[in-house]
Amino acid sequence: MAFFGLFGGKKSASVLGVDIGSSSLKVVQLRKQGGKAILETYGELALGPYGGSEVGQATNLSAEQIATTLKDLLREAKVTTKSCGVSIPYARSLLTLVELPRRRDAREQKTVIELEARKYIPVPIAEVQLDWFIVPSSEPGKEDAYQASKVEVLLVAVHNDELKILESVVKESGLTASFYEIEIFSTIRAVVDEPMKPTMVLDIGAASTKVYVVERGVVALSHSISAGSQDITRAIAASGNLTIARAEALKKEEGLGEDGSRSSLELVFSRIFSEARRVVMQYETTNRKSITAIVLTGGGGVTKELGVYAKQTFSIDVRVGDPFAKTEAPAFMRPILEEIGPEFAVAVGLALRKLTEE
Ligand SMILES: Nc1ncnc2c1ncn2[C@@H]1O[C@H](COP(=O)(O)OP(=O)(O)OP(=O)(O)O)[C@@H](O)[C@H]1O
Ligand SMILES: [Mg+2]
Repeated sequence: MAFFGLFGGKKSASVLGVDIGSSSLKVVQLRKQGGKAILETYGELALGPYGGSEVGQATNLSAEQIATTLKDLLREAKVTTKSCGVSIPYARSLLTLVELPRRRDAREQKTVIELEARKYIPVPIAEVQLDWFIVPSSEPGKEDAYQASKVEVLLVAVHNDELKILESVVKESGLTASFYEIEIFSTIRAVVDEPMKPTMVLDIGAASTKVYVVERGVVALSHSISAGSQDITRAIAASGNLTIARAEALKKEEGLGEDGSRSSLELVFSRIFSEARRVVMQYETTNRKSITAIVLTGGGGVTKELGVYAKQTFSIDVRVGDPFAKTEAPAFMRPILEEIGPEFAVAVGLALRKLTEE
């Protein structure tokens, strides 16, 4: 058996995580070797130019247009595998935490959950894929009679139409997907190290920012803020009378580290953060628990000096997500991987799940 260690361990097949975002596609290819996730390649391609808009702006493309972009990305990133897992946008899914009657028998519990779920899903149950997780009790053995008669369940539903679109993108681009996962769960796998403690994740995308609280290993709360990094670009363009392309470049170059476009960045980030603060307060008051850490992800999370700025807003430990830390890569790649990491959280999380299937 020791020989395996000597020769770098058993090699498994390569797998791919495919994150279909509103502004860009991201892929991450991993392979397992000696129990480690080796980073083989990664890449990103903006959707804007494929749909009459600009890099960094959200789009609304057809499955065919997305597949065309994805094929280009697979080629550019020199992806060598077809086996993948694909993200489902949070905006196309429904997550609700509900309290249902507890049953001792697991089969009976399943029936109760699946019947009761109908009341909480606003469309006919036949039109969605339903999934659910039982939230472990926060104080096992210490519940009062009422708590003991109830079970907390996270219901997760995705419309069949959305899955059909994703399936056709996958098929058109020549890939084979074994699962489709709501992006929140992929991100948690990639960047939340202590999913039992209340942790807030802010995924700052192009048009929107997703906020969610992870606790006891499940998503206790999720919310979407209708502001994202594309609004910063628009603000810079408007205030300096610049093109969107120039403003996008300035945003990336300067970030919050330089005075140039700082006021435009602060305008948008202060809006996002103040709404996130309200979510923190809402969570803490309802649950009588404190959020112990905040993790920033998404392309907006790559913004220079954002971590420093966020720390001034929240009196909570703030970290910028580093999903590639869960992968093995050459040391000289580390600085760049750390820098761009937040943007690849979803894709890394998908690839990590796919690796567990190998
Ligand atoms: N280095 C950077 N500095 C600042 N902003 C950046 C940087 N890199 C990317 N962005 C911005 O991040 C945004 C894209 O983020 P991301 O890739 O997470 O979005 P998405 O996944 O397409 O969107 P969503 O998840 O909302 O569907 C763009 O507006 C882009 O301009
Ligand atoms: Mg995204």
